[in-house]
Amino acid sequence: MTPSTTAACSEAGGAPVRVEEVPAEATHDLRWRVLRNRRPEASVTFPEDAQPGAFHLAVRGEDATGAVLAVASFSPEATPYRPGRPSVHLRGMAVDEPFQRHGLGRLLISAVIDRLRHDGVAVLWCNARDSAIGFYDRLGFEVVGEGFVVPESGFAHHVMLRDL
Ligand SMILES: CC(C)(COP(=O)(O)OP(=O)(O)OC[C@H]1O[C@@H](n2cnc3c(N)ncnc32)[C@H](O)[C@@H]1OP(=O)(O)O)[C@@H](O)C(=O)NCCC(=O)NCCS
Repeated sequence: MTPSTTAACSEAGGAPVRVEEVPAEATHDLRWRVLRNRRPEASVTFPEDAQPGAFHLAVRGEDATGAVLAVASFSPEATPYRPGRPSVHLRGMAVDEPFQRHGLGRLLISAVIDRLRHDGVAVLWCNARDSAIGFYDRLGFEVVGEGFVVPESGFAHHVMLRDL
């Protein structure tokens, strides 16, 4: 797959960055470091990564290294909270620790919302860690349903969604 730019450059943390589509493999390092706490045995793949219609976005620095600073993955999947509406499931949202709270997560989600609206998608949803609910709330997502714990990680989650 050829990566393609999906959003204009933006300033975050003082450095110019861009959002672009990347292969699933480009998300693995950040998934491992940020979401799997660097556990050697932890899996960094999702079964949905290669599903038809799945895609992956990264925020990269605009310098020569083009380091991946933030990633998230998206795949078509219905949610029972919005039956019959074209929906996309967000997974693997991770920002490199030194760059958290610099607006990169917001930049990435804004870029994907533009793309999904253009494609006629009506709902973006995720299983949000409770520690990240404030982030999704700031981006216009709402909590739906009861909380639950993901057994593999032990983290408490809620489903959150945004009508597009
Ligand atoms: C959660 C995460 C994706 C947010 O990305 P980010 O780039 O740090 O967030 P942004 O700087 O774009 O923040 C956007 C807004 O959300 C707020 N915010 C960010 N993270 C937050 C959090 N964990 N709790 C509450 N508010 C948060 C910011 O203060 C900012 O608020 P503002 O609108 O008042 O400026 C990132 O911090 C991260 O990777 N955290 C660790 C992994 C994780 O929890 N991933 C999500 C799993 S569901």
